[in-house]
Amino acid sequence: MKSRILFRTAPALLALACLSASALRSQEPPKPAAQHHPWDNKSLSPDQRADMVQKQLTLDEKIQLVHGTGWGALRPGAPIPPGNNWSAGFVPGIPRLGIPPINQQDSAVGVRLAALMGRYSTLLPSTLGAASSWNPEAAQLYGEVIGRELRAQGYNMSIGGGMDLTREPRNGRNFEYAGEDPLLAGTMTGNLEKGVKSQHIMSDIKHYALNDQETGRTVLSANISKRAARESDLLAFEIAIGIAKPSGVMCSYNRVNGVYACENDWLLNQVLKKDLQFKGWVVSDWGATHSTVKAALAGLDQEMPGDDGYFSEALKKAVQEGKVPMSRLDDMDHRILRSMFAAGVIDYPVEPRSVVNPFKGRRDAQHIAEQSIVLLKNENNILPLDAASIHSIALIGSHADVGVLSGAGSAQVDAPGGNAVKPHPGSANWQEAVYFPSSPLKYIRKHAPNAKVEFNPGTDNTAAANFAKTADVAIVFVNQHMSEGMDRPTLSLPDNQDALVSAVAAANPHTIVVLETGGPVTMPWANQVQGIVEAWYPGIGGAQALANLLFGAVNFTAKLPVTFAKSDADLPHPEVPGINLKPVDHTVTYTRNGKKVTRNFKELPFFDVDYKTAGAAVGYKWDEEKDIQPLFPFGFGLSYTTYQYSDLKVDPQGRTATLTIQNTGQRAGAEIAEVYAELPAAAGEHYKRLVAFDRVNLAPGESKTVTLDLNPLCLSIYNVQKDAMEKVPGEYRILAGPSSADTPLTASFTLNQ
Ligand code: BGC
Repeated sequence: MKSRILFRTAPALLALACLSASALRSQEPPKPAAQHHPWDNKSLSPDQRADMVQKQLTLDEKIQLVHGTGWGALRPGAPIPPGNNWSAGFVPGIPRLGIPPINQQDSAVGVRLAALMGRYSTLLPSTLGAASSWNPEAAQLYGEVIGRELRAQGYNMSIGGGMDLTREPRNGRNFEYAGEDPLLAGTMTGNLEKGVKSQHIMSDIKHYALNDQETGRTVLSANISKRAARESDLLAFEIAIGIAKPSGVMCSYNRVNGVYACENDWLLNQVLKKDLQFKGWVVSDWGATHSTVKAALAGLDQEMPGDDGYFSEALKKAVQEGKVPMSRLDDMDHRILRSMFAAGVIDYPVEPRSVVNPFKGRRDAQHIAEQSIVLLKNENNILPLDAASIHSIALIGSHADVGVLSGAGSAQVDAPGGNAVKPHPGSANWQEAVYFPSSPLKYIRKHAPNAKVEFNPGTDNTAAANFAKTADVAIVFVNQHMSEGMDRPTLSLPDNQDALVSAVAAANPHTIVVLETGGPVTMPWANQVQGIVEAWYPGIGGAQALANLLFGAVNFTAKLPVTFAKSDADLPHPEVPGINLKPVDHTVTYTRNGKKVTRNFKELPFFDVDYKTAGAAVGYKWDEEKDIQPLFPFGFGLSYTTYQYSDLKVDPQGRTATLTIQNTGQRAGAEIAEVYAELPAAAGEHYKRLVAFDRVNLAPGESKTVTLDLNPLCLSIYNVQKDAMEKVPGEYRILAGPSSADTPLTASFTLNQ
């Protein structure tokens, strides 16, 4: 305990400075555990091994596995039981059976709370940024970094894997999700979780389901038809589960069609476990369990963090009284144990309390960031900047002298050395705007050693304009701070930054805007500037990646995973549902340690969020259905070279599409080819769907013919009567091109009844 206190006050930089050979050793491949029990036999299947353990479990041990031990490290002063690695979620192990504790840690964009123990972990670009790479390999590398660092720090389960669709572009958590399209979000998140599992760490995807806004997340009911849900948000989960076979799925805080997600039989039993064949366990979001019998029977397998006691003594009593069958408790345990065996956390146990190699993580983060940052506008080829001919660059705003912004909430990673803008000891504060020490000023200067590169904070528009006036180029950094637990009231940039951009653009015709945002924003100044670059939250290698891209050392390849609307009025909900409601008193009662507990708190009143109107028409699909022109469409992104698409062919069964792409410019690049489908009239929808994509590397002048598998689920509708995804008969129009709004190639195939 003494050493913990010491570590807690030590700045994270100390950990960097102390990086030793033994720390680096901790990132060697995991060592197998000694064999002690019959179920240690790796030639048996995870299910067989779990069955063998289960036969040995007492009732108390069975109950022990299905709930956490409380808020622990997440609430100052809460007890930290032995074996708990200061995790977000903790389940004690069963040493007599060789079952290790489960230490679950938040790790959406890197491992959380590292500074709490004087450690360091890598901040990756936001997952929304990584989704902009449309590169499953980048997603897998992303997951590997997380898995590697979780392991090095003594955790054996990631509770990252956020993938709620961007139905609400002002949602404070969009930065930790993967965009608006089920195929892209499911593919990227699935591959990310594959990367986590490659390190023998348990993975998780969340928040299941339709937790698409933070406003009133614990009280709202997301109302949607079964068909629309299966073809949108649930489809993304279906695709990710198919790819990653994750250990856990975290059910969300909200209600869906009036029933809490964590006690929603349709969501958990019927869809997730039966239809989607999910073999892992359903873990509740923190405090999202609302009942014992109802939740257990609906398919919840583990209560987190466990403070409310629904799945501890109350569940034991319910099992003893026959209200929850023993077979259901056994099923919960089986799902947990088989996932531990399947991921390898029993065969390759984690060794707690080492330090990660920050340099390796930084390199990987930069590599992913270089594929994540999107070029949205490049008038007169203002980019790439030519260091030889530029004499002065005026850098303005968003603390670009010291760092890059990160996303807040439970996805927050601690910055090495503390917040670059406002350092303080220990971990970041909840919802704090934390800047990481990756300085755009420094790396831009590095690329233009002979130019005068100066910084102005952008806090006074007139001063910023005067500062920009005489420079050859002005680069304005603008930001949108986002966090769990809050949504933005509008798509506008906060803090009057639109006026800052306009003032600078009026003073300097060569103005480039770099956005560090959690999601889409409006840009009333888009026509006034020459360059626009969306950097998202670019991570610890962000400034290096950005400078490489701005000066053309690396070519832009990323494309938007979300639609950028021209105004809030164009969204299905022009106003965030519930945002103007006033909190009211709520009371919950439950039994804990045999005593009745009453908890009073203030929250918004219960309210409904209508997803029936938009249905599955999220993002670009909504725009197409309503004939709305976006500011920048889904799938859009420029490059320093140009590409030409030709020769689209589809096989008669609609399994694959073949097309040719040529690099018609002067630079090597990677083009993301997008293939969409318009379903036959019988599907009754008026938009196209993304059905395949591929990232194609091309040298200047090179031409490649690629064949893409069309995702059968994305070509299907959900037939409510048959309770199945199926392809409808008729003609399917296939469209291909560089973005959802630019599909020059068409072909078709017809399916008969
Ligand atoms: C968040 C989850 C997170 C959990 C534990 C909740 O508030 O919604 O995403 O994993 O806290 O930190």
